[in-house]
Amino acid sequence: MFDQLFQHLNQIKDRKINSLFDQDKDRVSKFSIFQEDLYFDFSKTNIDEKALKLLINLAKSRRIFEARDAMFRGEPINSSEGRAVLHTALRDLNGSPVYVDQTDVMPSILQTLEKMMLFAERIRSGQFTGQGGAITDVVNIGIGGSDLGPSMVVEALSPYHDGPNCHFISNVDGAHIHDVLSKLNPETTFIIIASKTFTTSETMRNAQTAYSWMSKKVDKAHLQFAAVSSAVQKTDEFGISRDLVFGFEDWVGGRYSLWGPIGLSIIIALGANAFKLLLSGAHEIDTHFKTADMQENLPVILALVGIWHNQICDYSTRTVLPYDQRLSKLPAYFQQLEMESNGKGVDLDGSPLSFHSGPVVWGEPGTNGQHAFFQLLHQGTRIIPCEFLVASESHEAYLDHHHKSLLSNCFAQSEALMRGRSFKEISSMLSSGQMKQDEFEKQAKHRVFPGNRPSTTLLYPKLTPKILGKIIALYEHRVFVEGKILGINSFDQWGVELGKELATDLEKVFIDGSESKDLNSSTENLIKIAKAMRQ
Ligand code: F6P
Repeated sequence: MFDQLFQHLNQIKDRKINSLFDQDKDRVSKFSIFQEDLYFDFSKTNIDEKALKLLINLAKSRRIFEARDAMFRGEPINSSEGRAVLHTALRDLNGSPVYVDQTDVMPSILQTLEKMMLFAERIRSGQFTGQGGAITDVVNIGIGGSDLGPSMVVEALSPYHDGPNCHFISNVDGAHIHDVLSKLNPETTFIIIASKTFTTSETMRNAQTAYSWMSKKVDKAHLQFAAVSSAVQKTDEFGISRDLVFGFEDWVGGRYSLWGPIGLSIIIALGANAFKLLLSGAHEIDTHFKTADMQENLPVILALVGIWHNQICDYSTRTVLPYDQRLSKLPAYFQQLEMESNGKGVDLDGSPLSFHSGPVVWGEPGTNGQHAFFQLLHQGTRIIPCEFLVASESHEAYLDHHHKSLLSNCFAQSEALMRGRSFKEISSMLSSGQMKQDEFEKQAKHRVFPGNRPSTTLLYPKLTPKILGKIIALYEHRVFVEGKILGINSFDQWGVELGKELATDLEKVFIDGSESKDLNSSTENLIKIAKAMRQ
């Protein structure tokens, strides 16, 4: 399927990205897209007109738009689980019908949203009280998609945070729950247990610990717990009253769930208006994805750049570099979104893939990353495509000089990665007297930058709720398009199951003292030594 692209790569592999700008003065406008207030520049990659055409043909041959329409229509495209994939419906406030098994799901989505907003407002206004009065702190207990989305969004939109303090507990490591709860007053804390399945062991253990913590100080009648889940029977068993249960259906995947009830902590922290703006931004990208031609379609182009780098050029990782401190959790959020979705080994029919699936995704906010791993990005032997994200303006007008410095750093890095610095340029430093002879002999070769390192830049005006909604939805659809091109199911995650099962067995060994069985001698030995160390 990639043959023509491989042939083309073979022909151009020694060409410098820089030279493309010399050959075509119009390159920037041809290899960039404006989607209203988002600007995506992919001109600093080795993609030329022929490569783009071949990539678009590939997307067409993989019937991307037909697959997209099937998703929006509510067809069961998550084939291994027989489920529809309808996170897009959660952010469609127009309420136009969307059918799953002949039932319009929109009325119940809108009803639940209304219930969430009313409840959040009661907490925010102080009308809903705990045993000690108005709620001062809200704790979301969840993991994976039931944690990463809301915690990333709450941090990203901190300038809009005018509700109670918000905390997130995810890790089963007791240090996490201890460090959060030990600073809180149980009489004014509200706990949300967020778990689609309500069986995830880390979340259930943390929920039990939080329950005992609160029960020690708070009367049974005032225990402040809500549940967000698609397993209402299980939330009943936990003892959470139905009016504090916010349900959703199995057609919302965990890593795509922040737009619905899993976003409850977001509404409590930021208010209903900010949440609706977040949804409207995402919906705007849904509409763009549904209506724009391939060449102008931002998620499609972003996906094609990803395919070019990962499957064609064989760059096995990509780094996400938000030059936006408040997006410090975005790389972790994208890791789940991209790696849980597209880290698969077989196609839709179960046949092994004959090419690599999704790339390793990693990153850190700029400028911090520059002083940590950028050395390898610039001079290491591996090529790692960089995906920069940056706002043109910050929320802190009085610190605008900081923001100018941030922008300068971001743009300087993509320029430096592409441009590099040749031995000849270093030599000219010697002849111009900028460098002494002995310094030159010692350092010259170490100071060479090969350059020709690809990057893309997503530029947006300011990190508002609407812009954040757009960025997240853009990447969701990018993952969808990449998954479709690879022919895999981006919406299941069977690869997490084996470890979960073995951990459950091993917990019996550690907690109940059962004998371990069927384990490799290395694991047996680790158990033995850990037990001995614990005595
Ligand atoms: O283990 C993976 C996973 O199933 C994710 O897909 C999901 O987001 C996370 O666990 C949490 O699941 P739940 O919301 O059911 O607790």
